[in-house]
Amino acid sequence: MPALGIGTWQNTDPEECANAVATALEMGYRHVDTAQAYDNEAAVGEGLARAAVPRDDVFLATKVWIDQLGGDDVVASTEESLERLGVDSLDLLYIHWPAGAYDPADTLAAFDDLYDEGLIERIGVSNFEPEQVTEAVETADAPIFANQIECHPLLPQDELRAHCADHDVEVVAYSPLARGAVFDVPEISAVAEKHGVSEAQVSLAWLREKGVTAIPKATSETHIRDNWASRTLELDDEDVSKIDGIGRTERQVDPDFAPW
Ligand SMILES: NC(=O)c1ccc[n+]([C@@H]2O[C@H](COP(=O)([O-])OP(=O)(O)OC[C@H]3O[C@@H](n4cnc5c(N)ncnc54)[C@H](OP(=O)(O)O)[C@@H]3O)[C@@H](O)[C@H]2O)c1
Repeated sequence: MPALGIGTWQNTDPEECANAVATALEMGYRHVDTAQAYDNEAAVGEGLARAAVPRDDVFLATKVWIDQLGGDDVVASTEESLERLGVDSLDLLYIHWPAGAYDPADTLAAFDDLYDEGLIERIGVSNFEPEQVTEAVETADAPIFANQIECHPLLPQDELRAHCADHDVEVVAYSPLARGAVFDVPEISAVAEKHGVSEAQVSLAWLREKGVTAIPKATSETHIRDNWASRTLELDDEDVSKIDGIGRTERQVDPDFAPW
């Protein structure tokens, strides 16, 4: 899985969304994250089609919304996602939240069926707490490839990351820029200034240091390019410990149905 992808939540203007995806792919991004609930799968598909990049080179992920997690609905809604995205299969399909119609045995059996049929290459979960990760790993026949969780310097998720590592589950960081909150943290600004880069790049490089894949959402070419540049930013031990020492725990995404 490419360690830096582009997120698309709230990128609902079809032209803007297609343009952001195509711009990212042409710049070199090879990982695109969307979801049924973002109401933009068709625009993401348009971006994929527009970019001069072969489908097989792109790691495409979407997520099944919580009202579609009954077995039959998983299959039917995934077929609709494929149709909207204009692709034959997905590289990764997530359970968006362990909520709503989520039932471990029923839901994961349907994900296993999609996996066996080759409609999805990998099964993912999202917003799963440690005990839910263990349960999913024990319930599904196919491996649980990744847990997509909120993760950034203001929510480092040390325990959950360690738990995922123990179960061979990759971590994908959503809201890797804390939806903008990382721009106002003195420790991050100090590291950014030292390297002559943006706070966004520091946050993304810090996640890379932790072995975490990041999917920042960006709309403008400037932001898309700034985030891409984080790939060559090397933080030293002093930078990493400064950021590790921030010691704040601030969640940006916290709906009523969250499991925590
Ligand atoms: N699984 C889940 O439940 C879940 C939940 C939340 C998010 N996600 C996924 O994770 C992705 C990223 O999370 P997010 O959208 O919540 O937040 P984010 O990536 O932390 O922050 C996005 C915000 O930062 C701005 N931005 C991006 N790059 C920037 C840069 N280099 N300099 C300054 N500003 C910059 C964007 O502005 P512009 O758009 O104007 O460029 C946007 O306002 C989502 O799009 C979605 O794909 C998943």
